[in-house]
Amino acid sequence: MKVLVIGGGAREHALCRSLSLDPDVTALHCAPGNAGIADVAELHQVDAQDGAAVARLAAGLEADLVVIGPEAPLVAGVADAVRAAGIPCFGPSKEAAELEGSKAFAKDVMAAAGVPTARSYVCTTPAEIDEALDAFGAPYVVKDDGLAAGKGVVVTSDIEQARAHALSCDRVVIEEYLDGPEVSLFAITDGTTVLPLTPAQDFKRALDDDEGPNTGGMGAYSPLPWADPKLVDEVMATVLQPTVDELRRRGTPFSGLLYAGLAITSRGVRVIEFNARFGDPETQVVLARLKTPLASVLLNAANGTLDAEPPLNWRDDAAVTVVVASHNYPGTPRTGDLITGLDEVAELDAPHAYVLHAGTRRDGDAIVSAGGRVLSVTATGEDLAQARDRAYAAVGRIRLDGSQHRTDIARKAAGQ
Ligand code: AMP
Ligand code: GLY
Repeated sequence: MKVLVIGGGAREHALCRSLSLDPDVTALHCAPGNAGIADVAELHQVDAQDGAAVARLAAGLEADLVVIGPEAPLVAGVADAVRAAGIPCFGPSKEAAELEGSKAFAKDVMAAAGVPTARSYVCTTPAEIDEALDAFGAPYVVKDDGLAAGKGVVVTSDIEQARAHALSCDRVVIEEYLDGPEVSLFAITDGTTVLPLTPAQDFKRALDDDEGPNTGGMGAYSPLPWADPKLVDEVMATVLQPTVDELRRRGTPFSGLLYAGLAITSRGVRVIEFNARFGDPETQVVLARLKTPLASVLLNAANGTLDAEPPLNWRDDAAVTVVVASHNYPGTPRTGDLITGLDEVAELDAPHAYVLHAGTRRDGDAIVSAGGRVLSVTATGEDLAQARDRAYAAVGRIRLDGSQHRTDIARKAAGQ
């Protein structure tokens, strides 16, 4: 099977790594990729938002499957363009990707499907904003309706900050605050059959102890030793299957990766958000634990034949990933800084620890930073403590001027 992956972050590196280990995959391409993905896939330049260009590239490569990583091309309808060219594509249509593209749309689908989520108001005027903030009280949860790369959400007890963020959005969702730990659960679906993956936890804040601003995600781990073993079955029954059924009922079936961001509150599981693609950095740890070869699962989802797939198999190993970010992330990050120590990790820590590249590029013989999140240093171990120790040992070998990372990823879950 010839596979083309669209995107160029650590999620796509994790996808390409898994696909490169799958004996069914005879050729692996990625566009645009990054300096790390170049080790496992052939890179191509393409405007990932341009459906016609992606379809042309896929046809030229005689790809049997296109996998679209990031949300922006999905929301732009790139999966539709690839499918219209007769090429199987893993990723939802433009209409179904609105589940991530519009928080208001997601709330509407959840209401229709009876999926538990925070109560919310959609506001467009200052008066509506004040009314909604008043109705819920502090802490305030204020969400830009549109895509914002994980940075459109402000959670604060400061009414002025909440109001200022709300006023800066064209359309804003203001909702009830959900307490309790967060869990990310992914499911692969063809629009009818739903195959859950294994839960992971992401660390969204920039600094240790969940301080600092929200980011795209600073680290993740799996499994979750503290979670109820029945969690996956419960979320399948109350969230994932009803959402997939509702989108099919509306005539806009969702095929691809359905990401449920959940809060385990004192009153039960609630959906915080849906995404329409693999989460980053959770994918790095989820795929590190997946035993089933990935390609045929994605192809069956793309072809509407997921019912032919047996349940997925998981390793008993635990996995931890730690994101190394640029100076000033999540503000405007500094880029172009030299990264060293990658060879040492490959020499001393493989195969248990390895570096997935997020924002990197080659500059002559050197590898330099090219984005906010630069590397996702991933490790497996017999338990979370061992995986965590290995991940941080590898992080310690990497040098990137001004870089930052959290030191407490999976610490509590590992009992450290
Ligand atoms: P989202 O982009 O919707 O995932 O929001 C980003 C982060 O904001 C989430 O991972 C949560 O940590 C936080 N958040 C979002 N919605 C809520 C809520 N209703 N209550 C508490 N925290 C929330
Ligand atoms: N880890 C959060 C996200 O992928 O949106």
